[in-house]
Amino acid sequence: MGGSMMEHATINDTTVPGIFSRPLPVPPQLHGKADARSVLHYALRAGGGHSKLVDGVRTLTWGYNGALLGPTLRVPRGKPLQMWIANGLGVSTTLHWHGAQVPGEVDGGPHNLITPGAVWTPALTLDQPAGTLWYHPHPDTYTGPQVYAGLAGFLLIDDGEDERLGLPHTYGVDDIPLAIQDRRLDGSGRLVYMNRMPDMMGMKGDRFLVNGVEQPYAQVPAGWLRLRLLNGSNARIYNLAFADDREFHVIAGDAGLLEQPVALRSLLLAPAERAEILVDLRLEQGRSLVLRSDSSAAVPDLYRMPMAADAYDRGRFDLLQLRVGSPSGQTTHLPARLIAAPTLLADGPKHDFTLNGMMGMMGMMGGGFGGGRTADGPGGMSMGIGGRDLFAIDGHYMRMDVIDLKTPLGRTAHWRVRNSSTMAHPFHVHGTSFLIRSRNGNPPSAHESGWKDVVLVRRGETVELLAPFHHRADAKHPYMYHCHILEHEDNGMMGQFTVT
Ligand code: C2O
Ligand code: CU
Ligand code: CU
Repeated sequence: MGGSMMEHATINDTTVPGIFSRPLPVPPQLHGKADARSVLHYALRAGGGHSKLVDGVRTLTWGYNGALLGPTLRVPRGKPLQMWIANGLGVSTTLHWHGAQVPGEVDGGPHNLITPGAVWTPALTLDQPAGTLWYHPHPDTYTGPQVYAGLAGFLLIDDGEDERLGLPHTYGVDDIPLAIQDRRLDGSGRLVYMNRMPDMMGMKGDRFLVNGVEQPYAQVPAGWLRLRLLNGSNARIYNLAFADDREFHVIAGDAGLLEQPVALRSLLLAPAERAEILVDLRLEQGRSLVLRSDSSAAVPDLYRMPMAADAYDRGRFDLLQLRVGSPSGQTTHLPARLIAAPTLLADGPKHDFTLNGMMGMMGMMGGGFGGGRTADGPGGMSMGIGGRDLFAIDGHYMRMDVIDLKTPLGRTAHWRVRNSSTMAHPFHVHGTSFLIRSRNGNPPSAHESGWKDVVLVRRGETVELLAPFHHRADAKHPYMYHCHILEHEDNGMMGQFTVT
């Protein structure tokens, strides 16, 4: 066993105070340009540039229509869209609409490869409830490094429901998207990817970014504030809370509003999960609040092997400071009820998935090294090891030419996901918004009872899902189910399925 690993196992409390020296960037919105047939056109170009993730340090990063991250796509429900995705990178990529119910052909998974210099032009319609979705690359075995380099953005579906309900909806003012990510930099400011053995369990960083800036502050009005939280990290699970332990109200999960707001003081958010929360700042003028992650309490459930956790999993770190200004004058409020409770009838086939650890820890440490690919990143992004033989689903790794499962179109699949491995995995399914029917036989907690597309399955847990499929995915362009810890996904903890 290496010394650094033992260190990771024995550090037991860390507090990383916020810097709060730079303002929170809010990604610009793209509303799409309507043509004569009222199709909305959106253009994204993946490319690279310099960013200041950390104050005073220049880092080479990747982004859409800029050096880092991407614009927020605002998409009205049910309208035809024409997307234009150009690849200005030196490597192949794809663009996946995470959470979107669209046919496999335009899903942007590993089969929709965009080679360098090429343009991908899928036409799609998002006919599903309003929600906070996102987009990110999904090339086979390279999703981790490409997202880590900076490729990701928000995709917000609008159906007017939030306005009707009186929820805050002024973008960037009282309705703010927050992409939470962690990164590691070397002494010269380069992004470091996978250069330590524990990184094989999932790449985690020690710098905490919100919308691409380390521990920023945001000026917000004294009123109800809506935060659209996205865990855009490769591997880190956050346990979000305010430093003063105040209550907040979860109004939406991954893919839409909940039946009613759920009051919480902390919220676990796994990679790729989203939540919308409302915070009452009506009486807070002149004060400042800190959003942080306090993971210590959550850890025992998440990892058994010390290698899977890190020092920050047993400590606290600040993410964002909210500086409350004068009242907004808006008449937004917290409604008692939001939408009718979603219901589904399981009229489709059953399937059981098992999330497996493929090798014992000793075996992995002995033999799992050095077999990895070399990943390409922005110039100067240093990358080391690549892992393999780590975690799988149903005992095997994803292969581009193997369809693991078929499920019928127009039916609601009844899936059970059992985690028999040593750590928690966020399980994600393409092409659907699902409902959690049970966790270890118990009904899901209230804030998880709405539409979801990622579910954290803790070790030893079995989670039952009801997943309706309204679109087709054939063997040429199948859907994926996978762990959303991107290093697990890239190592094959993924499967392919068709809907016909
Ligand atoms: Cu967020 Cu298969 O992806
Ligand atoms: Cu997805
Ligand atoms: Cu995993």
